[in-house]
Amino acid sequence: MKLPYRGVAIGAAVLAFSAILLSRAQAGGGHFYPPVADPLVKEECGSCHLAFAPAMLPARSWGRMMDGLQDHFGDDASVDAASAARIRSYLVANAADAGGAPYSRKLARDLPAWQAPLRITELPAWRREHRDVPAWEWKHKDVRTQANCLACHTAAERGYYED
Ligand code: HEC
Ligand code: HEC
Repeated sequence: MKLPYRGVAIGAAVLAFSAILLSRAQAGGGHFYPPVADPLVKEECGSCHLAFAPAMLPARSWGRMMDGLQDHFGDDASVDAASAARIRSYLVANAADAGGAPYSRKLARDLPAWQAPLRITELPAWRREHRDVPAWEWKHKDVRTQANCLACHTAAERGYYED
């Protein structure tokens, strides 16, 4: 364990972590990325993780992702053809470079046009925003993966990511 609380009871470490998050949540005014509003997308893309906001990736990324759902980060996330078409059109219509543009300036702005990342956590701006998060926080048992936005952004389901 890399936690700086070596020797302290686990319960205390968890409490300390929540306290850090709480102080951040209270400090933040909140940056808004509209959450998924389509019930089908919410259901199919929100069962394994947070239904990521379409404004966080450009249309070309969502297209690439929908083309490879049968091998989605090692999981089979495929859906029937009709659902796939509807999900694709929703994500593309609300993407960072489409309907989601007014909300996405910070995250997708400086992504080179020839790149279509499948991860929000690979965006240069995302990496920049999170460069001060210490390694032990990423490894914390309540976080585990950078994709676990909800662990730190407790209002992510409503679209708010505090400053
Ligand atoms: C069967 C489970 C499952 C379903 C269903 C699923 N995903 Fe995922 N998704 C994953 C896993 C596993 C990862 C990798 C998580 C990690 O790195 O910790 C992931 C990661 C992602 C990421 C990248 C997160 C990052 O690191 O920035 C995006 C974006 C994403 N999924 C979108 C979708 C969309 C869109 C759908 C619906 C079409 C969907 N997912 C449905 C399992 C799923
Ligand atoms: C380990 C905790 C942690 C996780 C997990 C995490 N973040 Fe963050 N996030 C932060 C911190 C800390 C900041 C920067 C706060 C600051 O600088 O005051 C931040 C900043 C942000 C911002 C910028 C907010 C603004 O000011 O505009 C966005 C957007 C964001 N995160 C999205 C995400 C998304 C999407 C995910 C999941 C794919 C994620 N974060 C996962 C801790 C986390």
